[in-house]
Amino acid sequence: MAAWLLSSSCSNPTAVLALLLTAMMAAPAVAMASLHDDIELMFGGDHFAFHTSGDGVETLALRLDKDHGAGFRSNEAYLFARYDIELMLVADDSAGTVTTVYLTPDLVPPEEHDEIDMEFLGNVTGEPYTLHTNIFVNGVGNREQQFRLWFDPSKEFHTYSVEWNPRHIIMFIDGTPIRVYKNEASHGVPFPTLRRLRLDGSLWNADDWATQGGRVKTNWTQAPFYAYYRNFRVTPCPGVASCGDKGVDEAALQRAREEHLLYDYCEDQNRFKDNGGLPKECTLD
Ligand SMILES: *[C@@H]1O[C@H](CO)[C@@H](O)[C@H](O)[C@H]1NC(C)=O
Ligand SMILES: *[C@@H]1O[C@H](CO)[C@@H](O)[C@H](O)[C@H]1NC(C)=O
Repeated sequence: MAAWLLSSSCSNPTAVLALLLTAMMAAPAVAMASLHDDIELMFGGDHFAFHTSGDGVETLALRLDKDHGAGFRSNEAYLFARYDIELMLVADDSAGTVTTVYLTPDLVPPEEHDEIDMEFLGNVTGEPYTLHTNIFVNGVGNREQQFRLWFDPSKEFHTYSVEWNPRHIIMFIDGTPIRVYKNEASHGVPFPTLRRLRLDGSLWNADDWATQGGRVKTNWTQAPFYAYYRNFRVTPCPGVASCGDKGVDEAALQRAREEHLLYDYCEDQNRFKDNGGLPKECTLD
């Protein structure tokens, strides 16, 4: 930018200086909107570190070793918003590790607990990560959908997002919708209570179930493991009436699901056959 300013044909040195000053003053504003100020550590003691890169972007590293992992949550809770955060997952042999981002209310009784989950299940070197998603309403989940990521999520940052409002919950990867859960409460489908939700994130050991059904354990000689978070942004919905009224790009959603869906509870007839069949949200059109 400075190079462009200096080589431009601007003949007024004061104007150039003013522009430069404006550009310089903008820098601290970016740094102020830092992850550091937006989140607080929930567990993990010293197993986290902040690092600010040359471009002023602050990255949080969570660490997992044999002792424990680490977790954080947003300082603020939001009523109807889109939450975006960039993640770079544990590299190489990440089997047994789970890296998460999820939306959750403040402490409520277990039978009132809602949760919107994106959990990244690690794998042995060279085998693909799985994105495991779930939606809990009033303490009950069982709404798993899994996706195979179509890139190596440990090589660079990718953006994972949840849009949450009274109409629907939509999950996105790099802006592509992958999962939609509509509010069909009027048809008796459970939907999370309309209340403020925080964004939480964590890195922990789950080798009893995460990788290849728990058969592959965490290889602790590879520890410590690191997952990185940055660019947490929350875009509140402009007004409840217009929240989510843009809907979803159905074509993009269908394409992503055809190509990357691994498991959908709504297609698992067997699992629900003794409990009156598939959940209601699976059979409404
Ligand atoms: C790990 O890799 C295996 C083999 O490709 C695959 O079957 C599995 O779904 C992958 N993901 C997890 C979380 O186990
Ligand atoms: C664990 O990692 C070590 C070091 O890379 C390797 O030698 C060993 O074979 C790994 N163990 C398993 C069970 O993969």
